[in-house]
Amino acid sequence: MSAHLSITFSPLSDVTTQIILVDSAQNTLSGAAEHGTIIAQIAKMASFEGKVGQSYLHLDAASGAGFLAVGVGNDISNGLSAELVGAELYKTLRKHKVSSAAITEMTISDDMICALLYGALSQSYEFNHYFTKKEATSEITLCVAHKSVDGLEAQFADHQGMLSGVFMARDLITEPANVLYPAEFAARCEALRALGLEVDVLDEAAMTKLGMGALLGVGQGSRRESKMVVMKWNGGGTEAPLAYVGKGVCFDTGGISLKPAKGMEDMKWDMGGAAAVTGAMCAIASRKVARNIVGIIGLVENMPDGDAQRPGDVVTSLSGQTIEVINTDAEGRLVLADCLTYCQDKFKPQMIVDLATLTGAILVALGKDYAGLFSNDDALAKAIKSSGDGTAEPCWQMPMGESYHKMLKSHIADMKNIGGPYGGSITAACFLERFIDEGTPWAHIDMAGKAWADKPGHAHPSGGTGFGVRLLNDLAETWQG
Ligand code: BES
Ligand code: MN
Ligand code: ZN
Repeated sequence: MSAHLSITFSPLSDVTTQIILVDSAQNTLSGAAEHGTIIAQIAKMASFEGKVGQSYLHLDAASGAGFLAVGVGNDISNGLSAELVGAELYKTLRKHKVSSAAITEMTISDDMICALLYGALSQSYEFNHYFTKKEATSEITLCVAHKSVDGLEAQFADHQGMLSGVFMARDLITEPANVLYPAEFAARCEALRALGLEVDVLDEAAMTKLGMGALLGVGQGSRRESKMVVMKWNGGGTEAPLAYVGKGVCFDTGGISLKPAKGMEDMKWDMGGAAAVTGAMCAIASRKVARNIVGIIGLVENMPDGDAQRPGDVVTSLSGQTIEVINTDAEGRLVLADCLTYCQDKFKPQMIVDLATLTGAILVALGKDYAGLFSNDDALAKAIKSSGDGTAEPCWQMPMGESYHKMLKSHIADMKNIGGPYGGSITAACFLERFIDEGTPWAHIDMAGKAWADKPGHAHPSGGTGFGVRLLNDLAETWQG
């Protein structure tokens, strides 16, 4: 839902609890000079060595004044490590029940200060909308005292713009499927008009008219109407847009090829790709990025029902290509296929990146550390890897090629929607590639292992991660076609 930390900027601080950042060599990187000698004594007494995750609270019982020493380790020189320090700082404040603190006289660069604050805010996210008895998490106030407050505040506003997109994505992922069905997801996209985005919602009638048989086939077993949302940010003059496309399966039961009961509840976050695209559009608009970007998401619910599509059904996609639906649980690619065609027909984008929680097989291949990256364009793959590495959203490139395409051969239609028993993420990517026009740089990110985290990760609590928002936000500015 929101951050449980509020950050204020001020030239001076009158808050009594001072935060002292201490590195592994026991140098103090914030706080008043006299703290240095105290820290050296504490280091001996309390085995506080300035490692990340270590902290020491010193409070004067009479005055209530004191300081909180927070370890920063030996490297706070790059943004990602500073974010981790910020995340630890937030957890430390919570652990010691400090409700208001100040950080003054920081000797790290403004870039690192912003990264640190970003990490703290990102870590403070909580989704507690549905608890009726739990005591609300208290708000912590952090005062950042700095000599040039205005400059720092302006710089940090950019990070906050990005964070609003990350939080939006986490909210969308975390909402249960009885609340967040396609129409509700679309309504939340429409709210982004307030940021200056153009938002169009296509309903089933509009998609039927266009001929989006692949997407509509997936949604036909659901009581909830399928939708496609098109979001446009026009910040870049006359250039062709960059296009981001997301899989938005609001719930994936598998359809008639029903999934087993165990773990099926996870499939509420099978719209993680759409959440990433929506969050990125929110971030891009908040930050007023000087590019043209279009975000397209296909929103459906994959349900078993008397109207549901059957294994063996043949559907005609918007591209005109026919598909034999061997397994109704391989639905994400059907949704994306029509979104990809629509995107190219309508916008002639200079490149396309799609994101999807597409296959369980990518978890088998890569585990939960990397998303799978597939591309027909080396420059785009390189740019995505670089954006991913720089934003703690790393991607690992996987192979594609003719031999995998062969596995999609159908005896009755232009292709089947599944390949053989092995290489499932690759055949899924090859399926998508068939809907990409010759010469259009395209990449597919299979983020099935990244949308949801059972354990806390890089500056985020457990739960919906918001994976993809930062990567897409960064790519929007770094991509040079
Ligand atoms: N949404 C799933 C993929 C998934 C699995 C995402 C686990 C997150 C965690 C997708 O629609 C699916 O069911 N894929 C099938 C494809 C198979 C039928 C070829 C799969 O991975 O088993
Ligand atoms: Mn499925
Ligand atoms: Zn799915």
